[in-house]
Amino acid sequence: MISVENATLTFNAGTPNENRVFDALNLSVDKGDFVTVIGSNGAGKSTLFNLLAGTVTPDAGRIVLNGKDVTKAPEYVRARTIGRIFQDPLAGTASNMTLEDNMMVCLKKGFKGLRISLNRGRREFFREQLRFLDMGLEDRLKDNVGLLSGGQRQALTLLMMVLSRPELVLLDEHTAALDPRNADIVLSLTTHFVKEYGLTTMMVTHNMQQAINLGNRLLMMDAGEVVLDIRGEKKKDLTVDKLVAMFSEVRNKTFTSDEALLSR
Ligand SMILES: Nc1ncnc2c1ncn2[C@@H]1O[C@H](COP(=O)(O)OP(=O)(O)O)[C@@H](O)[C@H]1O
Ligand SMILES: [Mg+2]
Repeated sequence: MISVENATLTFNAGTPNENRVFDALNLSVDKGDFVTVIGSNGAGKSTLFNLLAGTVTPDAGRIVLNGKDVTKAPEYVRARTIGRIFQDPLAGTASNMTLEDNMMVCLKKGFKGLRISLNRGRREFFREQLRFLDMGLEDRLKDNVGLLSGGQRQALTLLMMVLSRPELVLLDEHTAALDPRNADIVLSLTTHFVKEYGLTTMMVTHNMQQAINLGNRLLMMDAGEVVLDIRGEKKKDLTVDKLVAMFSEVRNKTFTSDEALLSR
């Protein structure tokens, strides 16, 4: 579905701050995969998503999406097929627009350019969708999104992404800024939508136990490399301790990410 082929990426090339983040990185994700991604700060998780989404272009190598070379395709073009959610609940929705207008933007995206308009039937559909979120949003279609709480906003962002019918979903610690209760709600909505729509998904989390519990494949990154890639039956047998031990074995060093180890 999407692959990174021999991608090399250097920030600030030729300056004292030169930083080669990826050196011939290879990775391929299949349609229907639900991949969890872990790794300490600076491992390259967000930059990997930036490569896939077209936020950054590799210096060498290719990004192939559905068999097409999209290496040079700008982010806004790839955004037609790639949905992305960030940690910041303010990032995915427009504060000064109403819920229904925000939702309409995404629904139009999902209808791939077909002319559709906001009518009674659509409002009822939006209300139903919002009711499903169970966050008290079903009667707030005409409120500005800026009035919502972080949890409500991230749940709405998730719903909107689903309405836009993405082929690939990139979730970058999208529950990390929420309080534990809202984080749980948004996470369970996430797993529901992924399953219901069979969404090909990559999800960065700093919670190792969560990365083990969810999805069919787990990637562990370190210093710009995918150092562990565990799927299927092997993934089902994982524990946090096993994962930490496997990391030590392949990297010859101890996995140090206090945050990740603490959130079991
Ligand atoms: N736009 C940028 N300019 C310079 N360096 C960057 C940029 N984006 C990321 N990096 C560097 O790339 C490396 C990986 O960062 P990142 O992908 O954000 O890590 P992670 O998401 O795993 O914490 C870090 O060394 C970071 O400083
Ligand atoms: Mg990151």
